[in-house]
Amino acid sequence: MPTPTPADKFSFGLWTMGWQARDQFGDATRGPLDPVEAVNRLAEAGAYGITFHDDDLVPFGSADAERDSILAAFKGALEQTGLKVPMATTNTFSHPVFKDGAFTASEIDIRRYALRKIMRNMDLAAELGAETYVMWGGREGAESDSSKDVRVALQRYKEGVDLLCQYVVDKGYGMRLAIEPKPNEPRGDILLPSIGHAISFISMLERPEMVGINPEVGHEQMAGLNMVHGVAQALWQGKLFHVDLNGQTGPRYDQDFVFGHGDVKSAFFLVDLLESTDAQGNPAYDGPRHFDYKPYRTDDYADVWDSVRSNMVTYLMLKKRAAAFRADPEVQEALAASGADELAKPALAHGETWQDLLADRSAFEDYDVEAAGAKGKHYTRLDQLALEHLTGFR
Ligand code: GCO
Ligand code: MN
Ligand code: MN
Ligand code: MN
Repeated sequence: MPTPTPADKFSFGLWTMGWQARDQFGDATRGPLDPVEAVNRLAEAGAYGITFHDDDLVPFGSADAERDSILAAFKGALEQTGLKVPMATTNTFSHPVFKDGAFTASEIDIRRYALRKIMRNMDLAAELGAETYVMWGGREGAESDSSKDVRVALQRYKEGVDLLCQYVVDKGYGMRLAIEPKPNEPRGDILLPSIGHAISFISMLERPEMVGINPEVGHEQMAGLNMVHGVAQALWQGKLFHVDLNGQTGPRYDQDFVFGHGDVKSAFFLVDLLESTDAQGNPAYDGPRHFDYKPYRTDDYADVWDSVRSNMVTYLMLKKRAAAFRADPEVQEALAASGADELAKPALAHGETWQDLLADRSAFEDYDVEAAGAKGKHYTRLDQLALEHLTGFR
């Protein structure tokens, strides 16, 4: 099995291994996890970074002295191990005050409180060297469509994000912000439900260049969408600032399985995408490969640490298989036979105009549209080759 190293840029949320497995129907099955132990274990396992919500690290409502001592211990462990904090985020969903949203709560005082909570943790994130600040608006949404005018709520959402960008600029933090879309859960419907919605929202901001997205495998799949295509669009638009890797088996509750333990074929093509440059020379994704998963409720802590390793090993196995798939002459032949190489060329040659197109009889009048329509694309073959590589039979 491949061995993860910090050069692979794997990171984990403190809330993932630290999830005590309390769910809608049952109590915790695991005890609390000391953040220092999390840092040490992740470093031992070959991870690169750890991320956190403010309240994962310092329990909500802790006194200043308590906060200081937790932070001192955490920083000490980071220093000792060399583990990084590439990203941080805010819990604007657990406390009852956020039950109807943070950025989009109807009450002004709740929105002001939420902004202060985020700014406070941004200070810590900057101090720890985080490059990305994630915003997952889990409570921004509704069950009842009459409860909130979504047009107005989105304006408040935009103003909140604009203010945080201003704060980061004024403080010289140099962080970028990343919105994490999710269709539902915990709200019946969450605002900015998909990659496309989030990217479109960003175009309305004062500083769109500072804000990108943090898509999560399971969240797109909960909505029945293709994560690989969504990430490709984000890359094309320069908006993939961060990524949450995990597993999901179709549209249902947010499963947060280990990466690859859901739709493995999609995971294979996601790694293939993240690890590759495109034919137009756009750079590959170089941010952290961040795992946002939940160890099974049936796991004990030994299993949890094993699942940490599983995420990273799965990514590396898929990376190896994807490289082998791309290097296979049969795959290249199948792609060439399908005409895939031609996609890299624009429909009109350099300098050609629509007048030239109109004058080109071979493009229309003399074009054998029936022959073109009858040509097989061999995509079943391609998929089978992918599966043969994925399963290690090639
Ligand atoms: C979820 C989300 C969250 C966010 C995290 C970051 O499963 O609904 O993935 O885990 O990623 O809260 O803010
Ligand atoms: Mn999730
Ligand atoms: Mn989750
Ligand atoms: Mn996530």
